[in-house]
Amino acid sequence: MAGPARSRHPPEVPSGRLPLHGAGGSLALDVALPIVPARSLRERLLGGGRTRARTDRTVLVLHDVTKEYPNGRVALRDVDLVIPEGDFVFLVGPSGAGKSTLIKLLIRDELPTRGEVVLDGQDLARIGRRNVPRVRRKIGIVFQDFKLLPRKSVWENVAFALEVTGTPRRRIRPAVDRVLALVGLTAQARQHPHQLSGGEQQRTAIARALVHDPRLIIADEPTGNLDPLISWEIIQLLLRINELGVTVLMATHNADVVTALRKRVVALEEGRVIRDEVGGTYHRVD
Ligand SMILES: Nc1ncnc2c1ncn2[C@@H]1O[C@H](COP(=O)(O)OP(=O)(O)O)[C@@H](O)[C@H]1O
Ligand SMILES: [Mg+2]
Repeated sequence: MAGPARSRHPPEVPSGRLPLHGAGGSLALDVALPIVPARSLRERLLGGGRTRARTDRTVLVLHDVTKEYPNGRVALRDVDLVIPEGDFVFLVGPSGAGKSTLIKLLIRDELPTRGEVVLDGQDLARIGRRNVPRVRRKIGIVFQDFKLLPRKSVWENVAFALEVTGTPRRRIRPAVDRVLALVGLTAQARQHPHQLSGGEQQRTAIARALVHDPRLIIADEPTGNLDPLISWEIIQLLLRINELGVTVLMATHNADVVTALRKRVVALEEGRVIRDEVGGTYHRVD
């Protein structure tokens, strides 16, 4: 007996317009992605062929982390968290649960009172001030309020992230063009933030976060200022970036999105991890 018609590609293989870059610059093609390891895809689309020898497949470890602010407020208690490379993690929990504090520890805006935060094999408390910018470049961060520079164009906002790190000019142009193509903003490159929709502003911020080729993208409530349809577009973009091999950690209140996607969910409450499940929903299902 013939079974149901099978498509040539399994359903989880993404298809659609994907920006590819070649010798002639960026072009968009309608393609179905072949099944290849995530990292090689990421190199093709983001890294321009760069390869890394990575033996450690863990991007981030929090070991028994407690954070007490100087005013005595304990924002995180005994937090253990391991994020392997390639994960897509939703960080959920009510306002005040400690989500932003956790993110501040990851970018070394704050240091833990107790415990260790290890990014890409390095204990962030031990790297020394001079090395903070280098380590931070392993992370791309996206905020709820975009934090774009209003006097710079889309292109310049993204390029600026490379200029401040002393990237040579000849490397900046192709890198910026590539990430703008990836987020679908090539046509808006010369516009300024006030000439963009909220979704376009957030896509600009995502391009800026990606342009360093980070190992981890952290998004702190990235859809908090966007309507539901645009929020879905932003999530789809983050999922595509994750498919390219970039690890994504996203703090969110968006219960519909979290529950629909069944990704890994880490739930915080009063500074503690109360749930960490793969294929989770926003609210605990009892
Ligand atoms: N700089 C700070 N000083 C003192 N308390 C803070 C500071 N930042 C956050 N907090 C407190 O820590 C707790 C966790 O806050 P936060 O990490 O911002 O939570 P969330 O992002 O989940 O809303 C809250 O009680 C908040 O008031
Ligand atoms: Mg917060």
